[in-house]
Amino acid sequence: MAFSGARNERGEVRIHESLDELSTDLAYHIAELSEASVKERGVFAIALSGGSLVGLMGKLCEAPYNKTVDWAKWYIFWADERVVAKNHADSNYKLAKDGLLSKVPIVPSHVHSINDSVSAEQAADDYEFGIRQLVKTRVVSVSEISDCPKFDLILLGMGPDGHVASLFPTHSVLNERDGWVTFITDSPKPPPERITFTLPVINSASNVVVVVTGESKAEAVHLAIDDVGPDGLSLPARMVQPTKGKLVWFLDKPAASKLDRSQFSE
Ligand code: 6PG
Repeated sequence: MAFSGARNERGEVRIHESLDELSTDLAYHIAELSEASVKERGVFAIALSGGSLVGLMGKLCEAPYNKTVDWAKWYIFWADERVVAKNHADSNYKLAKDGLLSKVPIVPSHVHSINDSVSAEQAADDYEFGIRQLVKTRVVSVSEISDCPKFDLILLGMGPDGHVASLFPTHSVLNERDGWVTFITDSPKPPPERITFTLPVINSASNVVVVVTGESKAEAVHLAIDDVGPDGLSLPARMVQPTKGKLVWFLDKPAASKLDRSQFSE
């Protein structure tokens, strides 16, 4: 690792020399969190996102993790999903199935994908209802300070505009405080219809990991992590502030190129 350091409430920042190094560290980190959660709760409730994230998780399908991770205890969710058919090229479920879920022995009934045959609004309602059932049975834990689900790990990517999950800058869903899962029909990044975890759910997780690579995201990374005053406050990625959980940023060098590195130790 090139640099790593703690940034107070902005979490831990890990800057990697290469995508290969980043994906090695990411697989290690996820496997460690899985082990700890299975030891403590008997299950691991993990929420994925779309984009480049799933590809960067690829080392989990290889030795030693394909054998050492307790896959039967994993319960899979999505922090956001595009409202398209599950076999559509835009589906985050399809992306994860092709790149990860079909390569490791995850129990099919533990994979909680969206209802793809209804409207975005209905899909969000159905998804929240499903999570509520799993909170009752404690497959998903519950936050001690809000009534939100407490996922063991929520994995996020970030766009060049600073969006995370399907929470885009200036969108009214950033203000959603009551619901767990909401929907949009006007995503600036196609496809337009999506469902997404709300900020209270993301910020109730035990662990949140944000994976960001590439120079096009350097300015958003700077605004999301550095002490930039009011400039960064409205950036969705900066609103990721787990109340009790741990936040870790996995960056490559181009994505980290505008960070104030004075607080890092090599
Ligand atoms: C989606 C994603 C989205 C993604 C970011 C980063 O469904 O579009 O969940 O939030 O994670 O746009 O994507 P990249 O890593 O591919 O840039």
